[in-house]
Amino acid sequence: MDEVAAYTRLAGVYDEIVVDPCYARWADFLDGLWVHDQAGVHDVLDVCCGTGLMAAELVAREYRVVGVDASTDMLDRARVLLGSRATFDVAVLPDLPVAGRFDAAISNFDGFNYLSPSAFAETIAVLGTKVRSQGWLVFDIHTDAMMDFTIANALVEGDSDGNHFVISSAVDRAARTCLTTIDVTQARDGEPFVETHTQYFHSDEQVRAALTAGGFSDVLVVDEYSYRGADSDTLRATWIARRN
Ligand SMILES: C[S@@+](CC[C@H](N)C(=O)[O-])C[C@H]1O[C@@H](n2cnc3c(N)ncnc32)[C@H](O)[C@@H]1O
Repeated sequence: MDEVAAYTRLAGVYDEIVVDPCYARWADFLDGLWVHDQAGVHDVLDVCCGTGLMAAELVAREYRVVGVDASTDMLDRARVLLGSRATFDVAVLPDLPVAGRFDAAISNFDGFNYLSPSAFAETIAVLGTKVRSQGWLVFDIHTDAMMDFTIANALVEGDSDGNHFVISSAVDRAARTCLTTIDVTQARDGEPFVETHTQYFHSDEQVRAALTAGGFSDVLVVDEYSYRGADSDTLRATWIARRN
């Protein structure tokens, strides 16, 4: 069985095995948030855009989207999905070689959990240079409740669309990391493979400090793209901030 880098072979089966049917709901939430912005939200930077599922929802709502991701395999799939209706570029955060200013930057479905604490802070700082004054930064990250949930559910196995997968997670609570092994023992379109992903649980303090240093304020933390405030049961917190 091949051991491959994160988000290479997984790109081919990502939409089928990893994704919840959440994107339309999340895009409706973003749309509802931005519709009241008198300056208008038109240009959106989708950071860690993956296979373009959120970009597709935003394009359908008439936003102009630039998506960036470290994985060329994920981006290839995004380009197939959207063709010329969105722009996709490689960017390995915290390097962000995109031109222009955006009305909003987003990162959804755990993209920022892949950044080490220092890379996360540097990424927020560089996003501060890409988002216009009073523009938006909206991203989700795992919470401490998700850390507990992952420890309690360390093994997930399933079948989807001709794929069989086993996902095992090893959380280091002290280091605030999670090493996830995604073992696709049967792949719909090829040989079985294994990918190992390292994710980080960023503390609220780290996130707030990074936002302040990056020039963001008016911070709101809600429960997964909803108008409910995040609480101790929240697994995926959505952070909303405005550029000063
Ligand atoms: C769980 S996926 C989320 C993808 C997409 N946002 C979605 O909602 O489906 C995480 C994505 O983060 C990307 N990623 C991880 N580390 C990155 C980095 N340092 N720079 C840019 N992208 C990164 C991965 O390639 C992957 O596509």
